[in-house]
Amino acid sequence: MNTTFLTPQEREVESSIQPKIANMIEELFASLPDPKKLTSSERRGIIARYTAVLEGNFIYWMTAALLSVQSDESRPILLDNLNEEIRDCHPAMLRRFAIAANAFPTDSDALAVHDDLTRMRLFLGRMSSVHTVLTMAFFEGFIQRFMVYLAELAAAQGSVEMEYTDVHGVCDIAHSEGLFRAFAVEMEHSPIEPGTDLFEGVDLLRTLIQTIVHPQADKIAA
Ligand SMILES: [Fe+2]
Repeated sequence: MNTTFLTPQEREVESSIQPKIANMIEELFASLPDPKKLTSSERRGIIARYTAVLEGNFIYWMTAALLSVQSDESRPILLDNLNEEIRDCHPAMLRRFAIAANAFPTDSDALAVHDDLTRMRLFLGRMSSVHTVLTMAFFEGFIQRFMVYLAELAAAQGSVEMEYTDVHGVCDIAHSEGLFRAFAVEMEHSPIEPGTDLFEGVDLLRTLIQTIVHPQADKIAA
């Protein structure tokens, strides 16, 4: 971000929101169990629940962000992201990754994330651009950090199919930056009411990720 001509919203994103999101991602990452201490069934479960959530929902959620934004400046950032997802067929890449790790989701895997996933879908249905774009910025940042961990789980399952984790460990850095830019633009165009919880969607998504990793465990306090 060019620091010479920042809008007040861009300054707030840079000085406070982006560092807070980075901390949340670090905290979530630190709470992941050591892959070496997991059983094969536990490793399979994490990959399967992650796939159950991401394969059918990432493009849906990014589309929700595209539909919710109010500014013409934000749309190309989201469209660029969606174009890449569809042109390079990321859902198929993820499906190959899961199958190769013997972790294709079963009905039990899908049902384990059902409640938290439904809450996320309903939240995004409210079409609040500021909330939705911030949630996706958090998600892109998390996914990028999570790829090394996911690849380690798959390797321990005997898989060598790593295109999904290789691609997302790199390209999502640019996506995450773009989404923070879009978030600042949306804050300027559609300011939220004072007292509104800016991190509502981020918290819902964080809970969903915790359910992917620890399906039965207590969640980390927000
Ligand atoms: Fe992707």
